[in-house]
Amino acid sequence: MMTIDRCYCYQQTFADLKTVAEETGADSVHALQSHVTFGENCQLCHPYVRRMMETGETVFHEVLEDGEA
Ligand code: FES
Repeated sequence: MMTIDRCYCYQQTFADLKTVAEETGADSVHALQSHVTFGENCQLCHPYVRRMMETGETVFHEVLEDGEA
């Protein structure tokens, strides 16, 4: 099964990014990027990080594309 659980370019897991979001109150990809370096290369992780912020999920088994909320 496909598992997507991190920003692969920067090796930052969504679980760790979630912790940072909770600790800082960051509520968007951009806000979170001011606290931790991720998502600055291919940006394929952005829709997953947005979903993580909405639902708390940190492990995904489906392809999410930009524009999906
Ligand atoms: S996977 Fe996050 S920038 Fe490429």
